[in-house]
Amino acid sequence: MINPAISFVCHGCGAIVDAELALPFRCPQAGATGDDIDHLLVPMDGFIESFTVHKNFGLAENPFLRYRNLLSPYRLARKANLSDSAWDEIVGRLDDALVAVDGCGFRVTPMAIQPALSQSIGLEGALWVKDETGNVSGSHKARHLMGAMLYLRVLKAARLAVGEGIEVRRLAIASCGNAALAAAVIARAADWPLDVFIPTDASPKVVSRLKDLGARITVCERDPAEAGDPCFLRFREAVSAGAIPFGVQGSENGLAIEGGRTLAFEMAEAFAAAHQTPDAVFVQVGGGALASALAQGFAMAANIGIITRAPRLLAVQSAGCAPLDRAWQRMERIDVNEAAHHRSRFMWPWEVAPVSVAHGILDDETYDWFEIVKFMRLTGGNSLVVSEDALIRAHELARSQTGIRVSATGSAGLAGLLAAPVNGQVAVIFSGVER
Ligand SMILES: Cc1ncc(COP(=O)(O)O)c(C=O)c1O
Repeated sequence: MINPAISFVCHGCGAIVDAELALPFRCPQAGATGDDIDHLLVPMDGFIESFTVHKNFGLAENPFLRYRNLLSPYRLARKANLSDSAWDEIVGRLDDALVAVDGCGFRVTPMAIQPALSQSIGLEGALWVKDETGNVSGSHKARHLMGAMLYLRVLKAARLAVGEGIEVRRLAIASCGNAALAAAVIARAADWPLDVFIPTDASPKVVSRLKDLGARITVCERDPAEAGDPCFLRFREAVSAGAIPFGVQGSENGLAIEGGRTLAFEMAEAFAAAHQTPDAVFVQVGGGALASALAQGFAMAANIGIITRAPRLLAVQSAGCAPLDRAWQRMERIDVNEAAHHRSRFMWPWEVAPVSVAHGILDDETYDWFEIVKFMRLTGGNSLVVSEDALIRAHELARSQTGIRVSATGSAGLAGLLAAPVNGQVAVIFSGVER
């Protein structure tokens, strides 16, 4: 069935963007002077009530085929009179190119109970591990960016006026880790030029891979006079000059958060297949896109009825850098929607240059904080700040008890479970293969 409107709504100011008429990347009201609102464009999913989403998603193993009905680029494609098989072809071609570039395409990733791991922690319930280390480019980050790339592909295939000239604009991202690698792999597969803004201490291995993939690198120095991540600031300048935001901060491109929701759909389906309802999910938080996508995705999965209720969200940050926790503590007794209108009271760049073994979650700011705190409130979740010892122990246990070659960043959610054990049906996400 074809959906009547493909619109996005800003969760902060309520601005509505029709994806056929304007690019739904950044909220058009973001940056208005004197505005202290948290802006994020979220797809309007009202369509779910207007048609039956089959809880049986079919046989497709590629999440971007499997959950097509839940993805705005697919709905846009259908609205623009592209056929169902045209979508298959768009996704399939990109997937073939991903295999050629990186050795694998998108497939539902494994999720299993890990009894040895839960015993080693002394848990009585089931501990589920969703393993994203074998995903495209070695982490879940590629899901975020595939959501954005599919939208760009639909614009082109449907020859929508709003996409005119878009193919000559470069993609841009600020990152030196898993997100940059994911962006470079997808950009290469799509044959779309990419600029990556990296810090001075980026891993030489990552930089070399980015160069192999054809990305153009800009090294960004910290300036003491400037607050916040210099890479993010340079990225913003590139976007103002015409680049397409191809990063994982939802505030810059809400489509990236939408792509990440597929992870929650897969997890919800795995729980449903085991006739279980998830009680709690522990998630490592850096810029916040992962937890924000999971929050949105689990809420949708519960709405649709894949699971009977959404799990509690436990957001895990390192003591070296915990801007989300600072916001969460300041929110006590404050109406959550009011917080979205006073962003600077809750979220600002971490003042001290952060360090941690989990270096992938050391973002100066939790850019995507608001959907996380909203969902934590809704589900009775919480924010956890963990020590370096807990992060190191979690990393050791993760590898030795599951055999998964996960990085310390990618096992940081487990450190939260060590610090605050929960019994029941509990899940963690291992993402970011150890390089
Ligand atoms: C492996 C891994 N897990 C989790 C995260 C955290 O994701 P986010 O920055 O979206 O909070 C990152 C971020 O780089 C990561 O690389």
